[in-house]
Amino acid sequence: MTSLIDKIDRNRVPGHVAIIMDGNGRWAKERSMDRSAGHVEGVNTVRRITEAASEAGVRYLTLYAFSTENWNRPKEEVAALMHLIVVAIERETPDLIKNNVRLDMIGDFSRMPQEALQRLRQCIADTSGCTGLTLNLALSYSSRWEITEAARKIAADVAAGKLNAEDITDSTVGSYLTTASMPDPDLLIRTGGDNRISNFLLWQIAYSEIYITPTYWPDFSKEDFYRAVLEYQSRERRFGLTSEQLKK
Ligand code: IPE
Ligand code: IPE
Ligand code: MG
Repeated sequence: MTSLIDKIDRNRVPGHVAIIMDGNGRWAKERSMDRSAGHVEGVNTVRRITEAASEAGVRYLTLYAFSTENWNRPKEEVAALMHLIVVAIERETPDLIKNNVRLDMIGDFSRMPQEALQRLRQCIADTSGCTGLTLNLALSYSSRWEITEAARKIAADVAAGKLNAEDITDSTVGSYLTTASMPDPDLLIRTGGDNRISNFLLWQIAYSEIYITPTYWPDFSKEDFYRAVLEYQSRERRFGLTSEQLKK
């Protein structure tokens, strides 16, 4: 069987792909199942898309797994989701290591249950020697929280004399964000069809190519992922320039 992966130009693979994994609840509802069944199925998609990204040669895959706003969902759903995330990551860690995938995470961990945090940190430590894809989980994450934290830290460093206010550039700001060690996303994918950003990586997606698909996250296949990469490769990223300037 031929796969779209063979059509991908290996010299222009997006270095960083960020995904808003949405539609688990609607996927379950359409099947008259509990929302949590959608989240369980969504975990399989995480495994599949991590593999697909690795196989396509992507370096960083950031997955929006839980937003700070998601803390306001019914407490049973929040508890089930946290439990599912921790158990799934622990279960997958041996395979992550086997596939040379390094785990990382960003977010407001002060709001996370201590035990869950501890267990995730153990998985991160276990994969720290891996040199392939970085799988970065955005957990208890929101971009406004992140930018606010960065502003606080910058202000504190200026007050402490470690930084001159006049020397602050956009790369200074970037270096205070939780994604400081990563390039900005080249491609942002949202499944589930909603045309919004939901407080995700607002600073970092300034020039990302955006790809929104109606497909619910549990149905999102490797071929769907490759299709998004191919669509990305068909776009002209102008960064404010004209098409003619780029061709020079
Ligand atoms: C995305 O699926 C997963 C999380 C937000 C954790 P949803 O649970 O938001 O599914 P829909 O959008 O209600 O279908
Ligand atoms: C965005 O999905 C957050 C995650 C995928 C973790 P939501 O389902 O929470 O987004 P909204 O509420 O529809 O904007
Ligand atoms: Mg949703």
